[in-house]
Amino acid sequence: MNIENTTGQTLADRLAANTGRFTDKTFDWNAFPSNSGYDELARAQMRYIGAGGSPKVGDTSTLKADHFTVSLIYKEPGRYAACHSHEIEESFLIIDGALIVGWEKDGEVVEVNLGPKDMILNAREIGHGFRVDGVEPVMMSISVDVGKPLPPVYHYHPKEHPTELARNFGAEPGKTIKFDRNGDHPIQKLMSNYVVRHVELPTIWEAAGFTRKVYVGDAPGAIKQDTCRKEMWGLPVGAKLAPFTRNVEDACLCLEGSVEVVWVDDNGKEAAVELGPRDLVKTPAGQAHYLRNPGAGAATVWTVIGSSGEDGAEYAKG
Ligand SMILES: [Fe+2]
Repeated sequence: MNIENTTGQTLADRLAANTGRFTDKTFDWNAFPSNSGYDELARAQMRYIGAGGSPKVGDTSTLKADHFTVSLIYKEPGRYAACHSHEIEESFLIIDGALIVGWEKDGEVVEVNLGPKDMILNAREIGHGFRVDGVEPVMMSISVDVGKPLPPVYHYHPKEHPTELARNFGAEPGKTIKFDRNGDHPIQKLMSNYVVRHVELPTIWEAAGFTRKVYVGDAPGAIKQDTCRKEMWGLPVGAKLAPFTRNVEDACLCLEGSVEVVWVDDNGKEAAVELGPRDLVKTPAGQAHYLRNPGAGAATVWTVIGSSGEDGAEYAKG
């Protein structure tokens, strides 16, 4: 499955080998050994690119990670993830449900409630945890902005701390503060730079006939960051881009509708794959490709790009 640019393979074979199908994959309830034995921490992971924060790096049904990982995480109401930190940025894009994310420093926690299509980029070395207080489970896409992250460092795991303290990410009663973009608290100010609300982001209409909302990158309202770019693309009925090539890999995770990812070889020959919701294609650096929407409804595509800088891609109508 994780073969790329291998000689002797057809373009269609290589595209198929870089496609992650939701229905071919399974959720892994044992992806995080540190949760084992703690029912309140239970969560399931579906790995598309790399292992994310899981040590299960040998999974052959997972695409190889270059600059970022992509996985889905599923969490049921009443459960939480203990406060921990990483050496690298990690984003949570909410797909379904409402997720509370808390950031902790010196026993004080700021909590933000994120809804569908909202995103938080957890800053490097900041203690963060999450919890589902709502009535429906949360499905989210997590990307870690490095191919092989180090194991997380736990700050308030229920192994070492009372359950109530762990559930609140390290905040004693009265030490939890609500997210507020205009708040004065240093964690509120810091978090404000890392939370993206879908409805607050400008919609950029490209002349090529599709929309972009830039979550992480160089655009108004976006989080500025030096690793990967993250964008939500909208493709109306009939949208078709001209082929473009990046000097880094990108990943397209279809969220709504259906979209075709088309690869083009040096002779202009094409291979296409249709993605439905929760299907993904990873296109390696240097591979010419484009998207088109052959369906009767609009398509929404979460796009992750392996560089924060100029990647050589130009978008035109196909
Ligand atoms: Fe994390």
